[in-house]
Amino acid sequence: MNNQRRILLLGSGGREHAFAWKLARSPRCSQLFVAPGNAGTSACGQNVALNPLDFEAVGRFCLEHEVDMLVVGPEEPLVRGIWDYFQENEKLRHIPVIGPSKAGAVLEGSKAWSKKFMQRHHIPTAAYREFTGENVEDGLRYLAGHPLPIVLKADGLAAGKGVVICQSHAEAEREFREMLGGKFGTAGHRVVVEEFLSGIEFSVFVLTDGKTYKILPEAKDYKRVGEGDTGPNTGGMGAVSPVPFVDEAMWQKVEERIIRPTVKGLKKEKIPYKGFIFFGLIKVNGEPYVIEYNCRMGDPETEVVLPRLKNDLVVLFDNCAKGSLGRVKIRADKRTAATIFLVSGGYPGDYQKGKAITGLEQVKGSMTFHAGTAVTEAGCVTAGGRVVALTSFGKDIAAAIRKSKRSAKVVQFEGKYFRRDIGRDLEG
Ligand code: AMP
Ligand code: GLY
Repeated sequence: MNNQRRILLLGSGGREHAFAWKLARSPRCSQLFVAPGNAGTSACGQNVALNPLDFEAVGRFCLEHEVDMLVVGPEEPLVRGIWDYFQENEKLRHIPVIGPSKAGAVLEGSKAWSKKFMQRHHIPTAAYREFTGENVEDGLRYLAGHPLPIVLKADGLAAGKGVVICQSHAEAEREFREMLGGKFGTAGHRVVVEEFLSGIEFSVFVLTDGKTYKILPEAKDYKRVGEGDTGPNTGGMGAVSPVPFVDEAMWQKVEERIIRPTVKGLKKEKIPYKGFIFFGLIKVNGEPYVIEYNCRMGDPETEVVLPRLKNDLVVLFDNCAKGSLGRVKIRADKRTAATIFLVSGGYPGDYQKGKAITGLEQVKGSMTFHAGTAVTEAGCVTAGGRVVALTSFGKDIAAAIRKSKRSAKVVQFEGKYFRRDIGRDLEG
């Protein structure tokens, strides 16, 4: 049987550059298309100007270019049902989609649904209640009696902005009304009010074929823009893998209480799921709880997880699609990988684009994963808030970070900013 794959990867961030880099290294990848991609992915495959949300155009492209595997990077096409679109179309059905069905992507697409799912399967998570426009008064009464801080979550996708941690009852009431009033569009028409968990967060990833699962290296990301975890939330300023406090005992708890019941729960509820599950976890008094599920890999976590993954990613995806993941053994590089994101000045607020980026070719000892970059006649320029992730290996976090910091000085663009303290909280 022909085991060469012609792959279309959807997305345009650092995560997708890391995927593109890893897929292109596989002897089983005969052609890689990335839609729409960025300046970095164009060095791994062919960028194509397709909107990942235009399923018809994606399907047409797959037929015209004999694509035989679709890998979906971001959540939105999955939440909107790209898997189902391919399944329901006779001509596209034979193309495996790496990513869950719409029914599975709801793990990320609806926080209220995922909370109920966790309750049904006794998966540890923060206590919560949900409210809509129908029971605003009940909601306000509930908030008034809730201890501080109060976590409010817009139910649907809100571009990573839908979680607000309120330090006063007045703020919680205002935020609650604003969410229901449409601050996040329809995403906030249902609001989850959640108990605040105090602890240290980490991210766990599995690839599942719907029957079994394989655990990938874990990671910790750094979401706040400022050093010492201060300032507003971003898409992620850096990440490290492995995470020293996730020891054998913690892994056992995570697998038994969280991963296994999640995969079993999906199977029991007959929800088609062949793709990644990203568990956003928090360790509270030594015990793991789920903060959130995502139906995709993390960004910037992918930029440290895939470099550590020794397996051929096409082989993994093929087994995922065929339902034979049980045969696979995951092999990870023992070294530490750390990544630092160079971002545009002002991010996550307003920032300028189109700044010339220099020094990328001079980087030594780090991998560069592009995110917000574009190629113009003038060369490579900034095209987003998060610009380039610099990933390095080291014997420990400090050593890996040292290399990434050195590389961060080599790459230049006007307004460049990065956090110098990625991983410092974990250094032993
Ligand atoms: P999300 O946008 O869903 O990734 O959530 C953003 C961040 O909000 C998480 O990474 C946590 O830091 C924080 N968060 C969400 N839920 C809780 C909770 N129940 N307790 C404490 N922090 C939370
Ligand atoms: N790094 C967090 C995320 O990808 O959602």
